[in-house]
Amino acid sequence: MFVEWTPRLSVGVAPMDDAHKRLIELMNRLYELCDGGEPKSEVRRALKALADFTVRHFREEEAFMQSIAFPGLSNHKRIHANLIEQLGEHVNAFESGSGSLPNGFFTFLKVWLTAHIMGIDGKYGEHARAKG
Ligand SMILES: [Fe+2]
Ligand SMILES: [Fe+2]
Repeated sequence: MFVEWTPRLSVGVAPMDDAHKRLIELMNRLYELCDGGEPKSEVRRALKALADFTVRHFREEEAFMQSIAFPGLSNHKRIHANLIEQLGEHVNAFESGSGSLPNGFFTFLKVWLTAHIMGIDGKYGEHARAKG
């Protein structure tokens, strides 16, 4: 297994934790496919599922932050846009490559999980709790 959800990743907002758990599942699936040397078409499908879910999750998260009047919303949106852009670059590199994903891609995913979910997403969780 590539990454595991732990309570340390909790942002204290159940629907967002559920989405993060799903993201981790999709990342693990992708990792297993690459690790097992599965065909490019399979890896592509899993990569697309991860990218699609990410776009949807970011949209939902932004709507949630708006609903609690989170003051860091515009900054958080910029960070999401940047992540989507980086993910897009990885997808393009994958398409022009041999069909596997380099270690750098999985490092990117790990940094995303730790730095973004624990650091950045945690902030709206604190705000939601403070508001009650
Ligand atoms: Fe998130
Ligand atoms: Fe986020």
